[in-house]
Amino acid sequence: MHKCDCNPLVPDIVEVIEIVEETPDVKTFNVKSEKGVPFDVMPGQLAMLSLVPVGEAMFSVSWQEEKEYLQFAIKRVGLMTDELHKIDVGQQLGIRGPYGNGFPVEECKGKDMLFIGGGIGLAPLRSFIKYCFKHRQDYGKIQILYGSRSYADLCFKEELFEKWPGQKDTEVFVTIDNPEEGWDGHVGFVPSYLEEINPDPAGKIAVTCGPPIMIKFVLQALEKMGYTDEQVITTLEMRMKCGIGKCGRCNIGSEYICLDGPVFNLAQLKKLPPEW
Ligand code: FES
Repeated sequence: MHKCDCNPLVPDIVEVIEIVEETPDVKTFNVKSEKGVPFDVMPGQLAMLSLVPVGEAMFSVSWQEEKEYLQFAIKRVGLMTDELHKIDVGQQLGIRGPYGNGFPVEECKGKDMLFIGGGIGLAPLRSFIKYCFKHRQDYGKIQILYGSRSYADLCFKEELFEKWPGQKDTEVFVTIDNPEEGWDGHVGFVPSYLEEINPDPAGKIAVTCGPPIMIKFVLQALEKMGYTDEQVITTLEMRMKCGIGKCGRCNIGSEYICLDGPVFNLAQLKKLPPEW
């Protein structure tokens, strides 16, 4: 089926070609259309997935593999995602996008990058992390700090423990909230681990995504360490429905998350009503 150019709400069709169980409640879905990727996506951009007859929902694209397929890491949090977790390889989905501004990959060139993620918040960050590795010469040192409730709840374990730590000029810090048998890594919450690591703000951009409570304390920790509001970036993926600035569901003050976001730096966010 071909997308109707006259109606941006009509989806393309993609087929699920692989499903990876990341955690007990997160699965990664690789999807492709007849032509490979249905559209090109930049890190941090979003797409609307639909499953007939359940409905549709907006998700961040966790990676575009060349022109071959798109990846979505999706956590089970409600009706639509519960149903998505039941589908098998071969299932057809509707897709429309890409939506949103994405991460400022150009502006960050030449900077050291600090990624701070919690839980499923690593999914959008991963698109930027993988982009930095793909364009390694354009970015300085890369530090990745990621935490989840338990070892089982850590997403993308192969990349976290095997692929990323071996990359040039890269440090990966992983933590879980509580001690557990067999885990000899760091234990504690992401914001306090961040304070322990105490990464120097000079020449650095910090990009964070995770549960709101984690973000709140990460932002406080970064401020304490001397990061300016312009050096701190986050992504908001709230309440989106149409994705094209029509339904009014996603606005904060005068900004529409689907058009002006979902990526903002802290200086921009502080100008908005405190609804984020
Ligand atoms: S999702 Fe409809 S206006 Fe943003």
